[in-house]
Amino acid sequence: MSVISFPDRGHWGDAQWRGNCSGHVYAHLFDLLRPRTFVDPMMGSGTSIDVARERGIDALGLDLHQGFNILRDRLRDHLPGHWAGGADLTFSHPPYHDMVTYSGAVWGDAHPDDLSRCADVDDFLDKLAQAVLNQRDATRDGGVYGVLLGDLRRNGAYHALTSDLQAYLPRRERRAIIIKAQHNTQSDRRAYGQLRFGRVTHETILLYERLRGDTYFALACAVNQQRRVSQGTWRAVVRHAITGLGERFTVQDVYKAVYAAAPDRVQQAEHWKAKVRQVLQRLEELSGEGRGVWCRAA
Ligand SMILES: C[S@@+](CC[C@H](N)C(=O)[O-])C[C@H]1O[C@@H](n2cnc3c(N)ncnc32)[C@H](O)[C@@H]1O
Repeated sequence: MSVISFPDRGHWGDAQWRGNCSGHVYAHLFDLLRPRTFVDPMMGSGTSIDVARERGIDALGLDLHQGFNILRDRLRDHLPGHWAGGADLTFSHPPYHDMVTYSGAVWGDAHPDDLSRCADVDDFLDKLAQAVLNQRDATRDGGVYGVLLGDLRRNGAYHALTSDLQAYLPRRERRAIIIKAQHNTQSDRRAYGQLRFGRVTHETILLYERLRGDTYFALACAVNQQRRVSQGTWRAVVRHAITGLGERFTVQDVYKAVYAAAPDRVQQAEHWKAKVRQVLQRLEELSGEGRGVWCRAA
């Protein structure tokens, strides 16, 4: 079935957790894929883990709210030792950009690596792709990795997050696209005037199979990354450059990293250092509350 609909969410997880998902979705996936080991690196209220454990699946749930950060921590390093070679299934249900804000709202304090606190849609897609590739790395050869994701409409524009994400992932590993009808959303209860193009009432499940041997894939990723650095916005260039700089760095470090990552861009832009400083300042403002990756530049 490539279209699914579960109006009832079942007794799993927490119905009060904003953006929680019906447990029947996970039951459907487990019936389809029959994993023996399963990890959800963004488990939220733990719906997926409740369903998995009820079915006798060896399951691990992680989330930023309990200290696991999919943008900084290698998921594979967190798997139990007896899952040799990786998990049968790694599946996540990330934030849909800023549709629901998690850190500082649903739980704890605002966190700069919270996927619901990205600077903009491009920043979100960049980070989400990094997260899904982290999932891929924790999946055994022949295992499955995937996401449940929704699209977003903002100020008249339609952000097709699910299709855009696919452009970052290896096409030859794609195995299924499942459309899930969306029920009981907050927007259902809001009164809308006439919506010219209608409301978004579906989400999408993307499933990929990790193929054995990843030399080709690593190369494809490197090319893709290079393309984003040479053609992307200055914000993408700076963000890419500072990813490898560790916990503390200076503006001079950022200049060096940007120069190393995108020498052609630097040579074409006379005032590139001013641009870099401008981006750092903007990212710092966006990270908010004086904390976070962007605030480390002194
Ligand atoms: C849509 S919710 C998951 C809801 C879950 N399926 C449920 O039914 O309760 C998305 C989750 O992603 C988590 N998250 C956001 N950024 C993260 C990050 N960098 N690392 C790990 N988890 C993150 C949020 O804390 C939130 O709990």
